[in-house]
Amino acid sequence: MAADSATPTLERLLRNRIAVEGPLDFSGFMAAALYHPESGYYARQARQVGRGGDFFTSVSVGPLFGSLLARRFVRWWQEAGCPQYWRIIESGAHDGTLAADILAALWQLSPAAVAGLEYAIAEPLPRLQAAQRETLQPFAACVRLLADPAELASQPLPGIAFGNEVLDALPCHVVEWQADGWHLCRVGCAADRRFCWDSVLPVTDPAQLAALAPLGGGFPLGYRSELRTGFGGFLAPLLASLSSGLLLWLDYGFARPEYYHPARQQGTLRTFSRHRAADDPLHAPGEIDITAHVDFTAVAESAIALGCRPLLFRNQGSWLTQVAREWLLAMEGRPDAELLRQFAMLTHPAQLGGRFHALELAWNDPLPASPSAADSHRLAIA
Ligand SMILES: C[S@@+](CC[C@H](N)C(=O)[O-])C[C@H]1O[C@@H](n2cnc3c(N)ncnc32)[C@H](O)[C@@H]1O
Repeated sequence: MAADSATPTLERLLRNRIAVEGPLDFSGFMAAALYHPESGYYARQARQVGRGGDFFTSVSVGPLFGSLLARRFVRWWQEAGCPQYWRIIESGAHDGTLAADILAALWQLSPAAVAGLEYAIAEPLPRLQAAQRETLQPFAACVRLLADPAELASQPLPGIAFGNEVLDALPCHVVEWQADGWHLCRVGCAADRRFCWDSVLPVTDPAQLAALAPLGGGFPLGYRSELRTGFGGFLAPLLASLSSGLLLWLDYGFARPEYYHPARQQGTLRTFSRHRAADDPLHAPGEIDITAHVDFTAVAESAIALGCRPLLFRNQGSWLTQVAREWLLAMEGRPDAELLRQFAMLTHPAQLGGRFHALELAWNDPLPASPSAADSHRLAIA
């Protein structure tokens, strides 16, 4: 075991907590496993993404992803009337690679837009912030690294808040359907000291009950899934930092009817280690990634409750193809094989294009845009 291995400390800490407090809510277990300030999976180093890490993201495919996001951001900036000062806030920026790809492309696409841009990254974990500082050294003049997005709220600017594969990394509850309704699954410690699923408790928390209410009932007994109730708390400080703007979330997930489909009896909780997926999230806390798909309807509803308007919900393939239209047209007759390879991976339905989705929302935006009927229908929101 490596000298800096976190497992003994984190496992001991979680065992002690269970001994004192009793079985843990899974979201508390996941929060510690991923984000414990010293021993959490993301706190220990910044090499989780990419070939030498545990999983790939769209960023690992190459710089095209960031350059297409930059096109979408410039289009927003132009439609917003080219504000002199504006802000992009990235959440879950990991080691800063996506930010560097976006900033390099923004310089090429529109130096005028970059002139008044503040690119802010909210990152509470010191090792990730150090990695971001190093990666983004060439762009230091416009980059602002913060521990908490609330630090921006005293000076809101027009702009964009976005993240790629951050919502799936937010801790979730595990819920189980029983004859008398939904229960919370809790984590205990077995006689052999391994973590195990322990007792379940009926859901009584009003916020959790409200989040579960739209699912209705009649699921197969023992049906398990995940529930995140923290989207509002995640979005609120970002919105407070923007006087108006665009929210963009890219991730794997579904709209609610597909997420909680009765046939998906064991939910979407997965672990990743060395590019291998497994389904025991209680194994080796701090050593492996834990993730669950995103219920995009819940994200949209939380944002609507805070005053946002949903604009679109598409799979990544269709969203990126729309964003890339001008770039694709400009390439006609002189195709770049490497960039087209990246585009195919990002958009192909059997690769990242089908599993991933993009959700866009407007915030304090004077433009009279509203979600298309198709987007509202797919998100199952009114
Ligand atoms: C899967 S990684 C994201 C990878 C990166 N965006 C990419 O596309 O390659 C998830 C990241 O989200 C970060 N994260 C989780 N919760 C967060 C929060 N509340 N605010 C900001 N970042 C968060 C984690 O620290 C981790 O770096």
